[in-house]
Formats: sequence, C-alpha cells, structure tokens
Amino acid sequence: MGLFSFTEEIAIDLGTANTIIIQGDKVVLDEPSVVALNQHEGKVKAVGKKAAMMRGRESEGIRTVRPLRDGVIADFGACEAMIREFIKMLPSHNKWFTPTLKMVVCIPSGSTEVEIRAVRDSSEHAGGRDVYMIYEPMAAALGIGIDVEAPEGCMIVDIGGGTTEIAVISLGGIVTNKSINVAGDIFNEDIIDYMGRMHNMRISEPTAERIKINVGAALTDLEDAPEDYIVHGPNRMTALPMEIPVSYQEIAHCLDKTIMKIENAVLSALENTPSELYSDIVKKGIYLSGGGALLRGLDKRLYDKINIPFHVAEDPLRAVARGTGIALKNAANFSFLMR
Ligand SMILES: Nc1ncnc2c1ncn2[C@@H]1O[C@H](COP(=O)(O)OP(=O)(O)O)[C@@H](O)[C@H]1O
Ligand SMILES: [Mg+2]
Repeated sequence: MGLFSFTEEIAIDLGTANTIIIQGDKVVLDEPSVVALNQHEGKVKAVGKKAAMMRGRESEGIRTVRPLRDGVIADFGACEAMIREFIKMLPSHNKWFTPTLKMVVCIPSGSTEVEIRAVRDSSEHAGGRDVYMIYEPMAAALGIGIDVEAPEGCMIVDIGGGTTEIAVISLGGIVTNKSINVAGDIFNEDIIDYMGRMHNMRISEPTAERIKINVGAALTDLEDAPEDYIVHGPNRMTALPMEIPVSYQEIAHCLDKTIMKIENAVLSALENTPSELYSDIVKKGIYLSGGGALLRGLDKRLYDKINIPFHVAEDPLRAVARGTGIALKNAANFSFLMR
C-alpha cells in the first residue's frame, strides 16, 4: 500500500463453519464463524477461535452464535459484528484510519435477496466501498482452477458445515443449483447420537468433531485405515468417566444414512441437468470441495454409487476462499459477480 493509496482489496469466504479472508495471494485470516455475545448488553465478547473456545462452556450472560449456521443468516446483527471484528483482526488493520475496502464476499447459493442485502449492508458498514458478492459453488469452481466461462458444464459438490451445495456451472453462470442442510454439522450430530446409543457415552460437539477428523469415514473398507481413536467422556447413566476406542468402521456405519442423503441430492441434481452438460460432467468428473470432502473414502463411495469419477479439490477447506480471491482480481471482467 502506497503512502497515498488507502484502498485495500480483500476476499472473504463467509462460510457456515469457517470464515477465510485473502489479501493478495495470502490467507490472512482463517477463523470459525462464531460470535460470543454478552447477553445483557448484546455486546460482542469474542469472535472466531476465542468465541469457539467458549462454545459448550457458556455461563450465564454469555451466548455463542454461529450467524450462518444453516446457510441462512440466522442472526443479522451477529453476522455484521463478526465481519467487522474479523476485518479489525487483519494484519494490515490500522486503528487510526479505516482504508476504503474493495471486497468480494462469498455467500451460500441458497441465500435469499434479504440475506444478500444484509451481507452487503454489513460489509459496507465494515468499511466496504466497492462490494461484490459471489455464490459459493462459483467460487469453488474458480478455486479448483476450472474455466467457468467455457461452454462446458462442470459439477461442484461443496460440503461445508451447515450446507451441501451442488451446482452445475457453464458459460459463467450457475445452471442448476441445489442446497441441502445436510453437511458437517449433521455428521457431528450423528456421531453424538451414536456414542450415546452404542457406547452409553455423552459427548460434546467438539468431541464429535475430533472423532470425525480422526476416524471419520464414508466406507467400511478403507485402504488407508486410520487407527482407532480413544474417546474420553462420562457414562450417560452413571456419569462415571469412560474411555472408549472408536474405529473408522463404526463411524462409517453411523454416517451412512446422512451420506446417502448427499448421494441422493447429487443424483437429483444430475437428473435436472440438461443432457449436453450432463455428458460434459460424465467426461470430466465431479469436483468435491468444502471440509466434508476430507471424509475418508467419500470420493470412492460416490464413484461406486454414481459411476462418475469424483475429484477432491486440493486443500478443500480453502478452495472457495482461493476462488473468491481470484474473483477479486478479476472483478471487472467477471459478469457473474453481484454488485
Ligand atoms: N478432516 C475432516 N474430515 C471430515 N470433515 C471435516 C474435516 N475437516 C473439517 N471438516 C468439516 O468441514 C466442515 C467445515 O467445512 P467448510 O468448508 O469450512 O464449511 P463452510 O464453508 O460451511 O464454513 C465442518 O463441518 C468440519 O467439521
Ligand atoms: Mg464454504
């Protein structure tokens, strides 16, 4: 930034689970999309990792919210506060003056007009002068390196925290789009439920998340099998401490029904795809992004079921953010950006 140029450019992936901000080519912020509020004054107590640490540990007067939980903005005020605080946390932030910001914000494709408006207002209140928006699957496609403007169809399946978004893209636009509220959060709920039912253990959401990361799987016969993961927690009945090794096979069983819902959503999106685009997709395969794409064996399971190859994006948790960064650089040329 030169001495007299106070415009900064930032790309924000506003995800249901994680918010990532890119400046230049660098990720300058990667935090959970969580806000802790002081319930009485409604003041922000913490955002991001600090707020996430408070989840499940709230005391009276403190409430944590995930403003975008199900892919819709559940809490406009909290969403705005979160964007504002994240911008303050950027390494380039200067407390003496606010530069004018040119920004591209990536939003879930199921967003309504009202929500789009709210994100735009929040971004403007946080200093955004030139604000563009992009839908998540479009950003994912850009991040994966697809030429989204080509007259060729491609399908993206982005499995995030709150939503799975399935979209067919061609000629710089989203042709078909399906968003379901079945994604990482539901996997965690399945695991909590399973540990209670099968092992009589009461576990928290963060523990379920750790189980998923360590032994989460979509298939019961993995080539590269992870070791069992030891889980500590109280017995549901007696409250006495327990220690239980959990295998990936158990988790694959417990996630089976939820993964089936994602399979069915992909199949139904394929059914609604015009046939020229359909054959492009069969030829090229389907791209997986979002943190859910990291579930072991998911690509193989989807291939077995649907008979079209699935490719996991490089660094799937950041593909959308990378694509939002690419959109920022080309904002003037990409007609699919919303102003
Ligand atoms: N290794 C992993 N295996 C399975 N799921 C994962 C893994 N790492 C992260 N996730 C899940 O990915 C989701 C977050 O993905 P992300 O793409 O950041 O979502 P969003 O765009 O909705 O913020 C969370 O539900 C998280 O539990
Ligand atoms: Mg996302």
